[in-house]
Amino acid sequence: MYDEVLVRSLRHEDADSVRSLDGRILGPDRSITWTGYIDRFLRLADVEALPEAPWGCFVAEIRGRVVGFLLSELRGGEYGMPRGAWIMAVAVDPKMRRKGIGRKLVDELVTQCRQRRVPELYAALLPGDNEATLFLRGCGLDPSKSLAIYSRTA
Ligand SMILES: CC(C)(COP(=O)(O)OP(=O)(O)OC[C@H]1O[C@@H](n2cnc3c(N)ncnc32)[C@H](O)[C@@H]1OP(=O)(O)O)[C@@H](O)C(=O)NCCC(=O)NCCS
Repeated sequence: MYDEVLVRSLRHEDADSVRSLDGRILGPDRSITWTGYIDRFLRLADVEALPEAPWGCFVAEIRGRVVGFLLSELRGGEYGMPRGAWIMAVAVDPKMRRKGIGRKLVDELVTQCRQRRVPELYAALLPGDNEATLFLRGCGLDPSKSLAIYSRTA
């Protein structure tokens, strides 16, 4: 049945469907769904003057209904920082989880990275976010050897 899932690039007209799906992701899932980012991003994607859909952003749809999305951006290259696609948000309709849709979205990003010779994919998680950790590991992402993140209390 889930062969019916189509993963395709985010289009300008998907913004409302993505917002509405994001709005249905509540509770503990919310903290790791970067609402502010998603809205800022979609406002950019809404700009019809953009010549094409943003790179590295996809929706998963079943019979025309958006059931998942992945937004990423290219970063790095400066100061010797590794170049990579950062997964900024990935989410699947709560009723459609554990059917391989999230992995299909990540696989599409891997394919696009290979086509563009982007060597790595990154994702940052909150510590203790076990489900997201299991998901990322299930998609082949391991703790990074190429990047260290530092912080201090301001
Ligand atoms: C995380 C999320 C995107 C996963 O989407 P999904 O479509 O259910 O994921 P998939 O079915 O493709 O799972 C792929 C693999 O990840 C792992 N996985 C996914 N969700 C998991 C969970 N809740 N617990 C344990 N392992 C999990 C499994 O190894 C799974 O493979 P399997 O089902 O063959 O065992 C979805 O749960 C979600 O939208 N969560 C809320 C938002 C969020 O946390 N986003 C950040 C993720 S980094």
